[in-house]
Amino acid sequence: MTQVFINGARDDLNVREFQSLDPSIQELILAATEARKQAYCPYSNFAVGAALRTSDGTIYSGCNIENGAYATCICAERTAAVKAISEGKRDFVACAVVAQQDNGFTTPCGVCRQFLSEFVNGKDIPLYAAKPTNLPLRVLCTSVLQLLPNGFSFTNGK
Ligand code: THU
Repeated sequence: MTQVFINGARDDLNVREFQSLDPSIQELILAATEARKQAYCPYSNFAVGAALRTSDGTIYSGCNIENGAYATCICAERTAAVKAISEGKRDFVACAVVAQQDNGFTTPCGVCRQFLSEFVNGKDIPLYAAKPTNLPLRVLCTSVLQLLPNGFSFTNGK
């Protein structure tokens, strides 16, 4: 089996075939794949798509949007999240991220992990990382809190 690394740690166990996943998860990954086509990334040339499903079943998707003032770039995950939250939907139940790196899966950056962790409501949500091509697709199945153990939160709740 191909070795898979998330942040340097080997993780073969959580890789699944796309076709074996629940249709609702496949749909989420395909939504992220579609959103990736809108990526505005002239500086990095690294296109990312993300999709979040909310508890009412709606999918909110987003892409990364870069800027000549590099610090203002926004990742695909936060684009999707701010679209949902600004529409009054913040009860996320699953997340998908799609990007092409030959040697591994693309998982959310630290800022996005923290951002998403605010909205998992203590229960965690699954996160699926996939590539846009290379059928049959293989998908890394992890979760927001697996990617960000011990992240920041106000201890008296919010
Ligand atoms: N990026 C994302 O949109 N999501 C990720 O999970 C990783 C990185 C974007 C930020 C930037 O536009 C480009 O990818 C290169 O870092």
